[in-house]
Amino acid sequence: VKRFAVIGHPVAHSLSPKIHAAFGKQTGIALEYIALDAAPEHFDALLAEFAAEGGLGANVTLPHKTRAASSCTTLTERARRAGAVNTLIRSATGWEGDNTDGVGLVRDLTERHGLDLRSRRTLLLGAGGAARGVAPALLDAGIGDLFIINRTPERADALADVLAQPGRVHPRYFSDVSSLGMFDLIINATSAARDAALPTLPVALAGPRTAAVDLSYGEVAIPFLAWAHAAGAHDRIDGLGMLVEQAAESFQRWHGVRPDTDPCFEFLREHRA
Ligand code: ATR
Repeated sequence: VKRFAVIGHPVAHSLSPKIHAAFGKQTGIALEYIALDAAPEHFDALLAEFAAEGGLGANVTLPHKTRAASSCTTLTERARRAGAVNTLIRSATGWEGDNTDGVGLVRDLTERHGLDLRSRRTLLLGAGGAARGVAPALLDAGIGDLFIINRTPERADALADVLAQPGRVHPRYFSDVSSLGMFDLIINATSAARDAALPTLPVALAGPRTAAVDLSYGEVAIPFLAWAHAAGAHDRIDGLGMLVEQAAESFQRWHGVRPDTDPCFEFLREHRA
């Protein structure tokens, strides 16, 4: 049986093993997919052990996405641009790192939720691994100007630098958030709610055309989406669809087959989040 895993810390509540098991069943591909917990200092050792035991591929989640990029011998173009890896593919020479988060998000927003992203004035909250993963794909999907704000301003600057579109991508300070005007798309890519500490956002950021997206799902997404509701945002979307779509894209990288994501999404929506 082909062996796969998701590596995170913590990882016990990851839905990825369920999703990949469902995709395997749907497509008739026999696979094993387990959750592996690794503290940051043990990530490389655990990955080496997994490879030695015949592991063919892995997903990487919090807090390892940036670190994983430096553990790979090759990176896909989209992983290199993101500086973050969520998918590892075993190759003859080591691990190839890919990032399926960005296309997963774009596919969820455009295909599942029917949003036209083109020219949307966009605010990205956060500049960590999650933000880095989705920013290049959003630009490729044709959004308008992209404003990035982050608690630590240097990381917003660094992300803007790697995106390398100075006329279009604008790092800003959190303290200036009230002067930024209204956005058509607001993406919460911070982990702030996991610490129950989402910074206060002015309701004037959102309006009747705004889509508000939290890359998390379940309880973690509630504070931001509640803010978006209060601010009058038209669409309020959590990260469950993105989770299923990024998994499908990883599945395709590993198995060469694209599963149908709708049954899996519907099941999780009903039973999990
Ligand atoms: P992830 O992979 O989830 O992005 P990360 O790389 O640790 O994880 O990034 C977490 C993001 O959430 C960062 O943008 C972080 O801001 P800093 O770069 O300033 O650390 C943001 N974040 C976490 N807790 C926050 C809080 N309480 N308030 C505001 N931003 C927070």
